[in-house]
Amino acid sequence: MISSIFEEQLTIELEKVLLRPITADDAEDLYDIFSDKQVMKYYDRLPLKSREEADDLAKMFMDGLADKTMIRWGIEEKAGGKLIGTCGFFCISEDDKKVEIGYELRRDRWGMGIMSEALGAIMKFIFTRTDINRVEAFVEVQNVASMRLLDKLGFVNEGTLRQYERCRNELIDVTIWSCLRSDGVY
Ligand SMILES: CC(C)(COP(=O)(O)OP(=O)(O)OC[C@H]1O[C@@H](n2cnc3c(N)ncnc32)[C@H](O)[C@@H]1OP(=O)(O)O)[C@@H](O)C(=O)NCCC(=O)NCCS
Repeated sequence: MISSIFEEQLTIELEKVLLRPITADDAEDLYDIFSDKQVMKYYDRLPLKSREEADDLAKMFMDGLADKTMIRWGIEEKAGGKLIGTCGFFCISEDDKKVEIGYELRRDRWGMGIMSEALGAIMKFIFTRTDINRVEAFVEVQNVASMRLLDKLGFVNEGTLRQYERCRNELIDVTIWSCLRSDGVY
């Protein structure tokens, strides 16, 4: 059962960053990340416009943890304690034994291997601490960085969902990626 992990210690220490649950105090750093148009370019939600929206976002992540519908870790730099991104899973299906992942990083920290390390640790967490069988990700076809990241982490591209969802007022193509327990990567 995945529900038991919500009561456990969730902090994960990596070489340069700590992965730990998001709190209300993270709102300012979340605003910096989620108000950046480049970070939000491939998201189906608009960049944040105010600190209040960042407070709501922090609350959404905290509520998701409290009601056991998602775990979103904050990615905190060990040097300085700044929150530079988030990653985690949601759309938890106990029946199908699957979850969907999401992740984003401050633009000035891109290309340094940080998300490879963070998301790799989350994948290991999922396959060692839960009985989840399938981890999936939906990525816009133009989001090269995200697809490269998933490929590197052992995900398989299962194809393109044509005109799958409305984003920025148009119907866009989305690629679907998965990593299965039986793939044996983690
Ligand atoms: C996607 C994202 C999280 C990647 O994080 P990151 O820490 O920069 O990724 P990494 O440095 O660990 O790189 C992972 C791989 O992708 C490659 N990569 C990273 N950015 C790339 C880019 N812009 N173009 C091509 N490849 C890229 C890296 O070279 C690396 O591959 P390699 O080890 O073979 O060289 C980051 O670009 C981001 O926050 N984007 C905006 C939010 C977003 O799109 N989230 C995903 C929604 S589906």
